[in-house]
Amino acid sequence: MPNYGDPQYWDQRYKEQEGTIFDWLEDYEAIEPLLDDIFQKRQDYSETDLTWRENLRILNLGCGNSILPEEMYDKGYKNIYNIDISHVVIEQMAKRNAINRPETLCVDGSYMSISYGTPENRVLHYKRPHLKFTVSTFEIAPEGKKSQDAVHYVYVCKKQEGAEEQCAINWAQVQQQIKKEECDDLLEDSDQDEEESKKDISDSSKLE
Ligand SMILES: C[S@@+](CC[C@H](N)C(=O)[O-])C[C@H]1O[C@@H](n2cnc3c(N)ncnc32)[C@H](O)[C@@H]1O
Repeated sequence: MPNYGDPQYWDQRYKEQEGTIFDWLEDYEAIEPLLDDIFQKRQDYSETDLTWRENLRILNLGCGNSILPEEMYDKGYKNIYNIDISHVVIEQMAKRNAINRPETLCVDGSYMSISYGTPENRVLHYKRPHLKFTVSTFEIAPEGKKSQDAVHYVYVCKKQEGAEEQCAINWAQVQQQIKKEECDDLLEDSDQDEEESKKDISDSSKLE
């Protein structure tokens, strides 16, 4: 059985499933009557004026790439905090919602990512032109482990005034750039595979 507590397992899984949506068990439509029953007990509850939904602060622990929090956001639940052990899925979800649900992080709000990823290959993503963050990087050596490999990096990205406007202006260009980088990576991988299979053939002919 896979190790569901291992962030690397989830990172790998979400990389492979990039662009897909997977809802474990129930969607919003299925749980809406239940939520209504629960929230009817609130003093500010109203069937017609749904502003009470904006007042709720919801923590979605282990959000994955499910569509549920997006459906809830669109139904008026604007304060949903989606967290996940996998930085890969958090980055994918941040991209997926950058335009239509940009209030996920308010101005002056901070996004924090705890990751094995080093600053050389992480910070560039937080500094993409559609984002207006100040980025602070910290290192934590996990208790009991001393080697450089074991270091965990913490990235704290604080959203600046004007971030939404900047996102609206630059998002299309960034999207294209990301697609191009993904194609380049695929080409590089297939070049490497080709090199390796040529090497295998020449190694095996040396043995014959
Ligand atoms: C079974 S999936 C559920 C995803 C989503 N909630 C859904 O219903 O479709 C479990 C999610 O929990 C995340 N996860 C596992 N351990 C976690 C932890 N300790 N803290 C936060 N998220 C965790 C995984 O990365 C994965 O996205």
